[in-house]
Amino acid sequence: MRTQIGIVGAGPAGLLLSHLLHLQGIESVIIESRSRKYIEERIRAGVLEQGTVDMLVETGVGERLKREGLVHHGIELRFNRRGHRIDMYELTGGKAITIYAQHEVVKDLVNARLTAGGQIFFEAADVSVDGFNGTTPSIRFSADGKPRELTCDFIAGCDGFHGVCRPSIPSGVLTVFDRTYPFAWLGILAQAPPSSQELVYAYHERGFALLSMRSTEIGRLYVQVPPDEDIKNWPDEKIWRELQLRFAVDGDWKLTEGPILQKGITPMRSFVAEPMQYGKLYLAGDAAHIVPATGAKGLNLAAADVRLLAQAFADFYSAGGTRLLDQYSERCLRRVWKAQRFSWWMTTMLHRFEADSPFDQRRQIAELDYLTGSRAAMTSLAENYVGLPWD
Ligand code: FAD
Ligand code: PHB
Repeated sequence: MRTQIGIVGAGPAGLLLSHLLHLQGIESVIIESRSRKYIEERIRAGVLEQGTVDMLVETGVGERLKREGLVHHGIELRFNRRGHRIDMYELTGGKAITIYAQHEVVKDLVNARLTAGGQIFFEAADVSVDGFNGTTPSIRFSADGKPRELTCDFIAGCDGFHGVCRPSIPSGVLTVFDRTYPFAWLGILAQAPPSSQELVYAYHERGFALLSMRSTEIGRLYVQVPPDEDIKNWPDEKIWRELQLRFAVDGDWKLTEGPILQKGITPMRSFVAEPMQYGKLYLAGDAAHIVPATGAKGLNLAAADVRLLAQAFADFYSAGGTRLLDQYSERCLRRVWKAQRFSWWMTTMLHRFEADSPFDQRRQIAELDYLTGSRAAMTSLAENYVGLPWD
């Protein structure tokens, strides 16, 4: 088999890249190790920046998103038993975020690719990438028990943090920058109408908590837990008890409980591999970088990467230029590092660290107090949260 761009991974990065390339008349094939059902049901992120929403709508995959997505103009920061609203819409001149689950974006993109005749190999085994430092890049894999080889002009490594593309780059080429945090998030999906119309980020002496949602009926909530926590230690009643404590406010607000449909633990990590390209292999999304979820940036960064990558491939095929391809890594990394900084800042401001001293706790409260009282500081949070300009 042969194509122009061989894409490893059918997450948001790989699927959106394939869709954007198709709109430019460029062929691609996606190789995915999981089943279609698995990727369409995997619960992950939920917040789309304004720019991500605009791109999905403008490229014709935003119909359901416009219908079912929940547009939010603000978020709440809660500490010392009081809530403080950040009016992002007003502070950014009319930008908002949209709550629409990542797996719904994935469903919409899979549907768009298959309807347009795009090729996705699901449940591919033994995937490997080769030849990207020479003239004939190829992806080897087996499908339906048969070994296959896809040759291409370029490979896009969109296979997430645990994929094969990044580790296939020879050692010594990449420089890795990372930080692990001494906590994780225990996340639940609950059959409980969200108790607030907007997201609530809570700082509490027992640790961070986040109230989010997937619809007007389904809540998505998180509590900070130790990094190596076993989910078995968290029966449903204990989760609700902890959430009640961390979200408690003075006044008549109430956290609505309901049956827990799903629960899981997500580690918190910052990671960047530089550069995001080697020969004819280009990395995008989680394959190149991970952010702690506090800033809600992971999926949005993946979208920003592939937007630049699709532009660079389009320039190459239409005009033969390699300038945009050569600049790909540098252009992405400027934005990636700004998102890393924001995610790290939100994380350190809102979580309890094991080694926290009373000084640190006072400092965190002072920071939240300053932030929620200063228009300049709130504007900074708001413009980062709704998404910085693409370039
Ligand atoms: P992925 O979505 O990881 O997609 C990579 C794809 O490649 C997957 O479909 C995978 O099956 C496939 N793949 C992997 N290896 C191979 C291989 N060898 N061959 C072929 N295919 C392969 N972000 C937030 O903002 N908020 C959240 O709440 C949040 N929760 C998360 C929870 C979890 C458990 C994880 C892992 C991430 C979470 N994120 C969250 C981050 C966000 O979901 C990611 O940033 C986003 O998925 C990045 O998209 P991607 O396409 O780059 O990678
Ligand atoms: C989510 O809805 O899953 C979510 C929202 C905001 C975050 C992280 C996750 O910062």
